[in-house]
Parts: sequence; C-alpha cells; structure tokens
Amino acid sequence: MSPSVGLSAAVSYRNAARHVAIIMDGNGRWAKARGLPRTFGHRAGVQALKRTVEAADHLGIAWLTVFGFSTENWSRPPQEVSELMRLLKSYVETDLHRLEREGVRVHVIGERTGLAPDILEIIHRAESRTRHNERRHLQIAFNYGGRADIVAAARRFADAVASGRLAPGDCDETTFGRFLSTSEAPPPDLIVRTSGEQRLSNFLLWDAAYAELVFQDILWPDYGAEALKAALAEYAGRDRRFGGVEVHDVLAAG
Ligand code: FPP
Repeated sequence: MSPSVGLSAAVSYRNAARHVAIIMDGNGRWAKARGLPRTFGHRAGVQALKRTVEAADHLGIAWLTVFGFSTENWSRPPQEVSELMRLLKSYVETDLHRLEREGVRVHVIGERTGLAPDILEIIHRAESRTRHNERRHLQIAFNYGGRADIVAAARRFADAVASGRLAPGDCDETTFGRFLSTSEAPPPDLIVRTSGEQRLSNFLLWDAAYAELVFQDILWPDYGAEALKAALAEYAGRDRRFGGVEVHDVLAAG
C-alpha cells in the first residue's frame, strides 16, 4: 500500500465514527435534582434517546448502540424495573413505524431469558419489521451484560464443538466473535458515557477493545444533538493507533 493511500484511509477512518455506543447515565440524578421520582428521569431519558437517534441519523452515524437495561439493573426496585420495561415497549410502539420508514434496522442484544412475553414480542416485532433496512442501525442493549455475552458465546462455541460443526482449534478472535450477540455490528469506534461517571459498567467488553472513550459531564435526559456533536469532535481529535504507531510517524520515518 502506498503511503498516500494509507494516510487518506487512516485520516478518514480517524475522523468519522461509524459506530457510536452510549451509556445513557444520569436519569436518576436528573430526577432527584428536580424533586421527582427516578422513573421521571427515565421517561425524560426516552425523549433524549429520540433526540439522539435523530441527531445520529443527521450526522451520518451508521450504527448507534444504547445501553437500555443491564443484567445488573434487575437489582433496582421492582417499580423502577417495570417502568424501564414499559418504556422500551412504548418507545418501540411509538417510534417503530418511523424507524422502519427511515431505513433504520433495529437490533436488540442481551439475554432474552427472563424477559416477559410482551417484551419478547415487542423485541421480535422491532427486529422483524426492520430486518430489510440497511441505511442505519439502532442496536439496543437490553438485559445485556458484557461478561454474560462472552459466557453465552463460549457456551455456543462449545456446543458447536460438541456437535462436530467446529474443532477446538477453530477458536480464534474472528470465529469466537461470531458467537457474540454483537456479531452483526462493527466494533464501536466511540463509546460515550454521560453523567460524569468514568467506567464501562460491563458494556460491550469484547467489542470495546479499541474504542475511544468519551465521558461527558451531562445527565442523559439533557442529551441531544449538541452533546453528540461535542463527543464526535473530541473523537475526531484522537489518534487511533490500534496498538501500532501513529500514521504520521510512519510517514516521517520514511
Ligand atoms: C442510567 O441512569 C440509565 C438507565 C439504567 C436506563 C436507561 C434507560 C433509558 C434512557 C430509558 C429508555 C430506554 C430504552 C431502552 C427505550 P441511572 O438511573 O443509573 O441514573 P443515576 O446514576 O443518576 O441514578
């Protein structure tokens, strides 16, 4: 590959995030600051989600992943858990038609066991009604945990070996990655966490290997186009080396 080809590919890849994943944090604090129950924060969080999905579309982001419900969120008060379930359902019910029309394919990742039949039905409806769309992808992590996803993939790989479809020696990063629930998505270029907290909280552990992390001091219900643009601007200034060296240094060294 000539240096000029390498440079232009690296620069364009560096500047445009194809896949942005967001840990939507701070709903509870947003509500508390207003003297409201936590569930009101989640409801405002859905409005922020709608603004962000729209902004991501306008900004040309091909894949947007959001963390809607983690495997750890079951430990929250039952009323809050059922509100989060209800919100997923009402979000899909109100927005599915628009997503479908606008060429957005919906993917839901996470453990299906333990979800109520009406939630399973809405997930199935969202995925099947949009399965032919290719323009944009909205991936909702729901009842998702990064470790659980890796363990489930290991089980599926072991099943494939036990049934003779694969041999133990077939296990490399590419083959194993196909067993993860995120296998259809490219790895995230950028992971954003709102609310000022700086950790991954079991989100996309495998996929995050080379993602850039941006932590924004804004509570999720206040999120929208401007905040997303700010995250993308920070991302655009990062040097992604993927364990190698910066492309300009390679060219300077001849
Ligand atoms: C974290 O805020 C947020 C969540 C646990 C849920 C995120 C859910 C939404 C934005 C609602 C829409 C979701 C879907 C799937 C449509 P927190 O409650 O931990 O906030 P805190 O840290 O301030 O308490």
